[in-house]
Amino acid sequence: MADNSLAKTIYLKDYQPPAFLVESLKLHFSLDQERTLVTNTMQLKRAPKVTNNPPLRLDGRQLELLRVTLDGNLLDSGRYSVDPEGLVIENLPTKFTLEIVTAVNPKSNTSLEGLYASGSMLCTQCEAHGFSRITYFLDRPDILTCFTTTIEAPQKKYPVLLSNGNLINKGTLAGDRHFAIWQDPFKKPAYLFALVAGRLTTLEDSFITMSGREVTIHFHVEEQNRDKCNHAITALKKAMRWDEEEYGREYDLDLYQVVAVDDFNFGAMENKGLNIFNSKYVLAQPESATDSDYEAIEGVIAHEYLHNWTGNRITCRDWFQLSLKEGLTVFRDQQYGAQAYPGGGRRIREVRRLRNFQFPEDAGPLAHPVQPKEYVEINNFYTTTVYEKGAEIIHMLQILLGKEGFKKGMQIYFDRHDGQAVTIEDLLNAMSDANDYDLGQFRRWYDQAGTPTLAITQSWHAQTSEFILSIIQNCSPTPGQTEKQPLHLPLAIALLNSDGNEQAATLAGELVPDSPGSRVLEIKDKKAEFRFQGWGCKPVVSLLRGFSAPVQITSNYDKKELAFLVAHDRDPFSRWEAIQKLALNKILNLMKDPEGSETDKLFIETFGILVKKKWSAAEADGASELLILPDEIYIGEQLNEIDPQAISKTRQTLRKTLAQRWQQELEALYNEHQSPAPYEPLPAEMAQRRLKNIALNYLAALGLKGPGLDLCRQQYLKADNLTDRLAALSGLLEIITAEELPELDEFYLRGKNNPLLKDRWFALQAAAQHPNTAQRVEELTRHPDFKRSNPNRVRALLGTFAAANQSAFHQPDGFGYQLLSREITTLDSSNPMVAARLAGSLSRWRRFSSPFSTLMREELEKLAALPQRSRDLREIIDKSLVTSQNDKLKKI
Ligand code: BES
Ligand code: ZN
Repeated sequence: MADNSLAKTIYLKDYQPPAFLVESLKLHFSLDQERTLVTNTMQLKRAPKVTNNPPLRLDGRQLELLRVTLDGNLLDSGRYSVDPEGLVIENLPTKFTLEIVTAVNPKSNTSLEGLYASGSMLCTQCEAHGFSRITYFLDRPDILTCFTTTIEAPQKKYPVLLSNGNLINKGTLAGDRHFAIWQDPFKKPAYLFALVAGRLTTLEDSFITMSGREVTIHFHVEEQNRDKCNHAITALKKAMRWDEEEYGREYDLDLYQVVAVDDFNFGAMENKGLNIFNSKYVLAQPESATDSDYEAIEGVIAHEYLHNWTGNRITCRDWFQLSLKEGLTVFRDQQYGAQAYPGGGRRIREVRRLRNFQFPEDAGPLAHPVQPKEYVEINNFYTTTVYEKGAEIIHMLQILLGKEGFKKGMQIYFDRHDGQAVTIEDLLNAMSDANDYDLGQFRRWYDQAGTPTLAITQSWHAQTSEFILSIIQNCSPTPGQTEKQPLHLPLAIALLNSDGNEQAATLAGELVPDSPGSRVLEIKDKKAEFRFQGWGCKPVVSLLRGFSAPVQITSNYDKKELAFLVAHDRDPFSRWEAIQKLALNKILNLMKDPEGSETDKLFIETFGILVKKKWSAAEADGASELLILPDEIYIGEQLNEIDPQAISKTRQTLRKTLAQRWQQELEALYNEHQSPAPYEPLPAEMAQRRLKNIALNYLAALGLKGPGLDLCRQQYLKADNLTDRLAALSGLLEIITAEELPELDEFYLRGKNNPLLKDRWFALQAAAQHPNTAQRVEELTRHPDFKRSNPNRVRALLGTFAAANQSAFHQPDGFGYQLLSREITTLDSSNPMVAARLAGSLSRWRRFSSPFSTLMREELEKLAALPQRSRDLREIIDKSLVTSQNDKLKKI
């Protein structure tokens, strides 16, 4: 990974349509772990509009070039030039055939991009630019062609040979070798190419599409995982049906294949007809997957399936359009999830994620628009902004256009652009044309970085019986964008009368069907005022219902009004937001007043009411969210300077106070929601387990003298599922150190032959709320099972430590930062993508108080001074350290 000229910036404004088109592509792979030969035969032609004779530049990296043939004639090396990024040929005819032979070494490819080995398998990852590590090609998403792929390999070692599309031929060859030929019926871009070879067992199922076609489903996994695929297969069929029913979209091929691999940089990849999944998002069994895993598997399976229409049939023109497929598909998988898991907690968890990851990103040095205008390394732009904020933008469109209007827009988008590589503009045009709706201002959501704030002043005028909302929107500067324009957004609200019922407000607005009594206020200007007339007394306003826009809200609520909303608001998000605000207020007061004269009881009493309430199974999901204190990261976001230790301590103290005050009630809650045996990952049972385990978590806060120790030990012993076992262990880890915990050793043994369980063993210790955690993490980096070549293991230990355990990571002596930066240094030379992701945890150093900020910066500077850095890491580090205007960001 040379740290030099490779770091050039790519700009959206420089986009040029391709000068050559690929009419067809034949690939031949002769597989070998250490030397795979790739023969690539393409028919190319100059694009119709090109009038001159431009050179052909093919992308290719880390390839051993063996031979180039043009129209059957071997080219000598003077006819082309090769550099580390590709190959250039000049003076070409308008139409020609190129044959290029290259060799790659999958075994030594630790980046997990291109063709690589995972265990005894060979597999590929091509998005965004992995294909150029397989062969020389026009590796850009607007080049679409039908692939015919022949795979040849030793039969014993690689009995299963897979690629995209349909299997058109297979057979045996001399020398115990065999082959398979796969062909695409539809054109696809190179990033959707996939190849898998290995000793795999195949589970077969089928699906009848709405037009009556039978689709064969194949899940290919290692033998020991055969019994862990049912959940994912069922989820796939549900997602296939849902896209038919919701969007009228049918699967287009006769075969849908999924492969599970252990070493994978991401969650999963939507390769056409051959999805490749991180094992973590396919394999599930009660003993090795938690409720959240079951839910996540369903979500990822749906996500990759739904890409077939939003991503594959209609793809991106260039990588600046990434949110066109990712934001839209996250929105679609969220929509799917909302009906699969209807408890109110799901939307709240989406909001928590957005606030804990996307809002901080948007307020830090790595902030970028949902449609970035420039990048150095595209892998660094698979961000929560492009994904989750991108999904929120689509959600806002759905609210503004209404559900039917939104669907109409989607139909026009599908009809107009099937088979094309398009832009975000094309999607917005389809929406705008379908509804005769001007989205000119709305488009700014894609161009402007930063989280807008709505300052909402409520005023009650008894003389005129008027309730007035005055709204000012604002957005702080972000890197490269000092001036911000006002955004167009839907603010869903309701006005509650003193019985807690929504009462029709006299202002015109649209009804939101799911949320009775809600109205959507359209905000366009920097300042707006809405007057509601005819009220007998001051109503209580429920704001941003359903989290109708990805904004922060400040408002002049009276604390009693917030408690009223906790009790009465029927919108699950707004009710949750009300108690979060009360809790946050309490925490901030405690932080200002650590000596303890803060005696306000309102939050503690409100919490008590919730603990005592008899929650039905259907309500349990939303209820469990109500009982969770604001996340540490979110608390930090509310402060001028983040003192992670103070935040953590205060939050813990409040947790303990609540547990002491409501101990009996929490024990009762714990007992009431015991889940039935045997375990089943059904939404209602998952919700009850969640609620019960939150009660247990509070009781564990009481330490050795509380009931938590016994309850956790009992629960650990009798658990028939991973959710309960882990909840018990994490409680125990809070009370007793890892070294003295026999349960932890027992758990380790359970994971002996199951890498996913072993990941849990690492993650659990990295997440422990214990003063020794950082030390323990350091020890674990020397554990024989800590494999840096496996991204899941790295994320389990270091990702959990640096991104999900504030108090352990932010040691006042900088130990946590030093540990992380050492690991980043090592990882960068093998897997830059993973290294760059981890480095994100240091990027927001300016927001922290002393000594944290200085210590974080010191580690960033060490990383900046490394003689060899990947382009990935370099971009993250350099942007994190940039000074000047960004210093302003510190004081948001
Ligand atoms: N296309 C992506 C996979 C990907 C991610 C490729 C990053 C290249 C770089 C896939 O559709 C995806 O988005 N996967 C997510 C999971 C999904 C449920 C949001 C992932 O892997 O995290
Ligand atoms: Zn995706």
